Amino acid sequence: MGEGKPPNVPTLHDELGKMMSVNAMRGYLARVPGSAHAPISNSELTEVLNWLLAEFNAETLPKNFKKLTVGEVTEARTQILANPNQYREDHWKAYEF
Ligand code: HEM
Repeated sequence: MGEGKPPNVPTLHDELGKMMSVNAMRGYLARVPGSAHAPISNSELTEVLNWLLAEFNAETLPKNFKKLTVGEVTEARTQILANPNQYREDHWKAYEF
């Protein structure tokens, strides 16, 4: 589950944990259209994203990682990314799905 279908649908394993070492990428998780438009509440989305990170990315998360908060997810989610791949490339150079 969550392996995606590269190159169009990225995997949700390991990469996300690595991204969390870059501050601008925390909000990214809630700003991709799939997340932002998901028919779930802000607190549910926060839980889903924290679950994805804990379940599929535990080995790559930075040691000092702090869980996403409902506040930051709520805020980020209003700023839906029209071009997630561009944002990912601009803010997280190790672009590689
Ligand atoms: C709660 C629901 C969802 C969550 C939490 C979620 C989460 C994510 C995350 C974290 C990424 C970024 C992955 C990366 O850059 O490595 C992503 C990207 C992506 N997701 Fe989802 N997703 C959800 C629903 C969906 C749905 C319903 C679809 C398609 C029907 C979808 C299709 C995609 C695609 C195509 C990308 C690549 C970026 C883009 O082109 O938008 N996602 N998703």
